[in-house]
Amino acid sequence: MMKSKLELRNIKHSFESKNKKVEVFSNLSLQVGAGEFVSIVGPSGSGKTTLFQIIGGLIRPASGEIWLEGEEISGKKGLISYMPQQPALFPWRSIESNVVLAQEITGTSRSQALEEAREWLGRVGLSGYEKEYPHVLSGGMQQRVSFLRALLSPRELMCLDEPFGSLDSLTRQEMQAWLLSIWEKNKRSVLFVTHSIEEALYLSDRIYVLSDKPTTVLKELTIPFPRPRLESVMLELAFQQLRQEIYGIMRKEHTVEKVIRK
Ligand SMILES: Nc1ncnc2c1ncn2[C@@H]1O[C@H](COP(=O)(O)OP(=O)(O)OP(=O)(O)O)[C@@H](O)[C@H]1O
Ligand SMILES: [Mg+2]
Repeated sequence: MMKSKLELRNIKHSFESKNKKVEVFSNLSLQVGAGEFVSIVGPSGSGKTTLFQIIGGLIRPASGEIWLEGEEISGKKGLISYMPQQPALFPWRSIESNVVLAQEITGTSRSQALEEAREWLGRVGLSGYEKEYPHVLSGGMQQRVSFLRALLSPRELMCLDEPFGSLDSLTRQEMQAWLLSIWEKNKRSVLFVTHSIEEALYLSDRIYVLSDKPTTVLKELTIPFPRPRLESVMLELAFQQLRQEIYGIMRKEHTVEKVIRK
């Protein structure tokens, strides 16, 4: 087993609102190895975003441990590069200064960071928008800005919460291929949430399939396709079989299906 970058041990957490208690995690454990690309797929409401907020120190779990490079980090912020599900751009900052935010906080020179940001904005089809403010961008454009902010953050572990969810399918494919090529070059550790089984299979070394609440790991799959990975992998029989396997597991877990079977 490769050395773990991130390790979640026995995470337990509930939310309480208006005398209703929602148990999200009763006992969840997972790991991301150094330089590993790991995806999480699971039903809506299973706690994927909550999990990222726990890793990012925004929520303290009721119990359990979060280890990052051998250090327990529960409740500690600023240690990971985090792309939230909603772009969360600062409306009073221009696009380019939104992109350089994480670098600024960790003390990279602003002019150097801005230069880099402009270059990357061009690569994701946003040149000309550097000095604009977030409200003039579409949801998908904002998502790309938020993605760049995470990508350029100097933290080694990237947690991406449905980064390509609001993109049209061609742009999405482009962004996937592009993320893959960047990742294959510098192998950061990635934890990636997606609703697309195909996307998870195409990008990942490993996939965790989560259950419905209270959430546990239903299945952990190692994805065997070689790197560098080509888009054509999606046409292979082994790819289709893995996709069917994951669909099967998720369908059984799906609330609507459970209700029908009752
Ligand atoms: N701040 C909060 N207060 C109360 N309940 C919450 C809070 N945040 C999340 N929840 C509940 O916790 C559960 C998990 O929510 P979460 O957003 O983590 O799900 P998710 O897996 O990211 O879903 P999706 O795939 O739709 O993004 C849901 O039932 C949600 O209603
Ligand atoms: Mg979510």
